[in-house]
Amino acid sequence: MKARKISKSFPGVRALNEVDLEVCAGKVTAVVGENGAGKTTLMNILSGVYTEYDGELLLDGQKVSFQDTTDARRVGISIIHQELQLVPYMSIAENIFLGREPLKLGLIDYKTMQEKARLLLRKLGCDADVRKKISSLRIGQQQIVEIAKALSFDVRVLIMDEPTSALSESEINTLFVLIHSLKAKGIAIVYITHKMDELTLIADHVTVLRDGCAVGHSPVHKITIAEVVKLMVGRDIKDFFVKKQHDKGDVRLKIENLSLKKSGKSGAFLETISFKVHASEVLGLYGLMGAGRTELFETIFGLHRTPAAGTVFIDGKRVRINSPEDAVKAGMALIPEDRKNDSLVLNMSIARNISLASIGKVIRNGVVSKTLEQKQAEVYREKLNIKSYSSNQPVIKLSGGNQQKVVVSKWLVTDPKILLLDEPTRGIDVNAKNEIYKLIDELALQGMAIVVVSSELPEIMAISDRIITLCGGRLTDEFTRSEFTEEKILKAALPSS
Ligand SMILES: Nc1ncnc2c1ncn2[C@@H]1O[C@H](COP(=O)(O)OP(=O)(O)OP(=O)(O)O)[C@@H](O)[C@H]1O
Ligand SMILES: [Mg+2]
Repeated sequence: MKARKISKSFPGVRALNEVDLEVCAGKVTAVVGENGAGKTTLMNILSGVYTEYDGELLLDGQKVSFQDTTDARRVGISIIHQELQLVPYMSIAENIFLGREPLKLGLIDYKTMQEKARLLLRKLGCDADVRKKISSLRIGQQQIVEIAKALSFDVRVLIMDEPTSALSESEINTLFVLIHSLKAKGIAIVYITHKMDELTLIADHVTVLRDGCAVGHSPVHKITIAEVVKLMVGRDIKDFFVKKQHDKGDVRLKIENLSLKKSGKSGAFLETISFKVHASEVLGLYGLMGAGRTELFETIFGLHRTPAAGTVFIDGKRVRINSPEDAVKAGMALIPEDRKNDSLVLNMSIARNISLASIGKVIRNGVVSKTLEQKQAEVYREKLNIKSYSSNQPVIKLSGGNQQKVVVSKWLVTDPKILLLDEPTRGIDVNAKNEIYKLIDELALQGMAIVVVSSELPEIMAISDRIITLCGGRLTDEFTRSEFTEEKILKAALPSS
């Protein structure tokens, strides 16, 4: 499939400017670029989501245009969306076969549908109950359902928009094995990612977008990662993150014997967890998916209604946290992993989303001051380079990574004593990641106590002073910075067999 001179504008921004892209049968073409470079927009055009654009699409040398996504699927083009588009109150099986349910005597044949869904999931190494509602699944599992759905069509060109951003290591490995088998069947794959190591692992060709223009194409073996990053950013990145030395202060947060029976979403539980975080310290929390990382944060933050056992001390004083409001009052902030459902009001502006969790700061004489709100937004728009035409732009019109930057800003504004970050850089480009690392370091330097969950070992090792590992709802080990090695940490996080 070929895209020729594709251009697309939105009010205030030229998202794509005469972009060419070629994808070949049996090959993986990676598309990379900074947040807001135009990757998702281009994929939306290839897959029939957007029908108005300039330029042309060619399939087997023939010009094609699509009325909608169904039209594109008919000729074999299927997309795995970056922002998942599943129906929350429907089951896994219903979502996969939405609008084309197998019928028997004119009625939906649930048995066949569920069986087919089960088979598809199994290929992806997932044995979830296909009758479960999407809303009861964690984001990583939802991602797998989205992938299964795309595979359930007869595909010739499969577009994957950041498929691994919410997956665990083992799920990623299963996906890569699957991609190899799809390649062997002659399927062309377009693969978007911010994880540069995935280029060498999975891609044959790479196309780099910058500010809506294609600035480079190359076979992967003929280009280095450094060259790709340079093309993406438009300059050499020299100011890579280097952690500063800082002395830790007094114990700020102390958790004692925290236990949680079972959480609705993943069935995970927590067993007598105890740890401390000091002021000016960054504590990394590493564990595989399902280890209970998110549950631990949620429990500390008062998000689980089932009473959890255990005690929480802040600055030496015992505090009771039964709701997120209590947590915020006690000086905590939580940046959650699922930005779309937990964090953003999509049709509100960037400025309002940023002020939402600390609205008191921008209230003057009893009303929200738009001027103050915008001033505050401008600071973060610049600091994190949130690509947008103004701070009044609704968040829904931002690219995925830029939405994540708004979430991060929103919680930083609350100026918490204790900051809990759950996968803070998911979907964020290489350059902006560095900015976030620097910001975390700066905040710690100013005295904040920070706990970070990340599935990326190099990331957590770069930013943490200390790392604790979690496995099956229990803390398994602890490492100081001088003890960090990938092997040790990974070993401590794996279930012992
Ligand atoms: N519906 C929309 N309305 C207005 N502007 C939009 C819309 N969708 C995208 N944009 C803008 O178009 C540009 C390209 O966005 P796009 O989502 O394609 O980026 P991306 O490369 O996928 O980024 P990311 O890595 O963050 O996902 C951005 O400036 C974005 O704000
Ligand atoms: Mg995108």
